[in-house]
Amino acid sequence: MLDNVNKVIDESRQGEAYGQGILSEDNGYARRFYIESYGCQMNFSDSEIVASILNNSGFGATRNIDEADLIFLNTCSIREKAEQTVRKRLTEFKKIKQSKPDMLVGVLGCMAERLKSKLLEQEKLVDIVVGPDAYRSLPILIEEAGSGTKAVNVLLSREETYADISPVRLNSNGVTAFVSIMRGCNNMCSFCVVPFTRGRERSRDVNSIEQECRDLWENGYKEVTLLGQNVDSYYWVDPISEQVFNFANLLERIALINPEMRVRFSTSHPKDITDEVLHVMKSYDNICKYIHLPLQSGSTRILQLMNRPYTKEWYKAKVSRIKEIMPDCAISADIIAGFCTEEDQDHQDTLEVMKFSGYDFSYMFIYSERPGTLAAKRYSDDIEPEIKQKRLEEIVLMQNELSFTSNKKDLGKTFRVLIEGNSKRSESHWMGRNSQNKVIVFPKIVGSTLKPGSYTSVLVDNCTQATLLGTIIE
Ligand code: 5AD
Ligand code: SF4
Repeated sequence: MLDNVNKVIDESRQGEAYGQGILSEDNGYARRFYIESYGCQMNFSDSEIVASILNNSGFGATRNIDEADLIFLNTCSIREKAEQTVRKRLTEFKKIKQSKPDMLVGVLGCMAERLKSKLLEQEKLVDIVVGPDAYRSLPILIEEAGSGTKAVNVLLSREETYADISPVRLNSNGVTAFVSIMRGCNNMCSFCVVPFTRGRERSRDVNSIEQECRDLWENGYKEVTLLGQNVDSYYWVDPISEQVFNFANLLERIALINPEMRVRFSTSHPKDITDEVLHVMKSYDNICKYIHLPLQSGSTRILQLMNRPYTKEWYKAKVSRIKEIMPDCAISADIIAGFCTEEDQDHQDTLEVMKFSGYDFSYMFIYSERPGTLAAKRYSDDIEPEIKQKRLEEIVLMQNELSFTSNKKDLGKTFRVLIEGNSKRSESHWMGRNSQNKVIVFPKIVGSTLKPGSYTSVLVDNCTQATLLGTIIE
């Protein structure tokens, strides 16, 4: 695998243990839970809902497995490798359980939904199985599992949005937070397991989203990321006033909370992002100029097989439209190498669209067939692993060049940066992001009052492929 900076993300985030942010509040709890989350931001956000539900039923978080009465893995099914990682972890927990028989192990999220009771009944790896729409039943299931009953709830819902549950922020930097605005997905991209594991799309009450964002602002947070599988199809009707809210309306409402609170969102579908959204983005300085616009493939033929209803030309026109309305807007993509029947010409089309779009960064994957998906039913996973790998490497190389070019264009520019914390490499440097979501690292000034959550102006004077480097301009 290439030593690239734009990570080829097989599992976008690997099992982070949560608990840190709430340890201080947990002293009063008699029982403890430990939770690890895998996969997309939505899963991490769901773990914060789970933490809230568990707190309310008497469990405090811990980061220390040894003191846990309950262990949860919030899992991802998007690629086979994600599931393998979780299985390995569950096997490790099974060993721990031999010396701690009262400890309960639960699997949450997409794998729970996909495999249903299999992990519990056939493989005997876990005690509790809970799908993404059934977290409210956790307290009852924990009781049942404690008394030796099989504890499974994988019912999907058409309504559940957990709108009334205030997430407990876990491992938070106190500056940036995710806010879920919708759940599920109706798109049925042929490669994707999400519509099966997360169910039908539904949007959350606009008022509860606004309230959650206001609470975050009042608690010192400076940036919210509105989360959904397909945020552009957000649609909510106020049952009293019958007022309709689309994504542009929601975005504006959140931007108006405070001009100093940044607003981001993810993920957009190229077919659904509207000019109205682009104009709202342009109108508000605090809506970040960054769009994650998954391409998946640059070949119209492959896009059709993927059930992505746009062509190569249509996608390119969308990119041009974004740049026309907001010339300073950064764009990133998800790209899949080696989908069924992909030929070299299709792969070349992908590279061409990448170059045309000039992505600032990308998440790049090898196609992994998922049981039950349309692609698994209709097509054969016929591209040799070596060819998939080679194409992925070419895609990564292309992205590295594009990222470096994009970063070099920023040399000499000054950006308003929101400080998130210390740089990973050095405590004498801050790390923050500009509106375009680029990471900027710069030296601290001795005696300055800047802290995480402060905005500062940074002049970019150097860069790598992955990072901008700069100095504070007073
Ligand atoms: N194989 C590889 N990548 C996939 N993705 C979704 N399903 C698969 C799969 N079966 C990628 C898509 C999506 C991102 C979240 O994961 O690019 O946008
Ligand atoms: Fe999966 Fe497509 Fe929905 Fe994204 S839009 S979650 S890739 S089905």
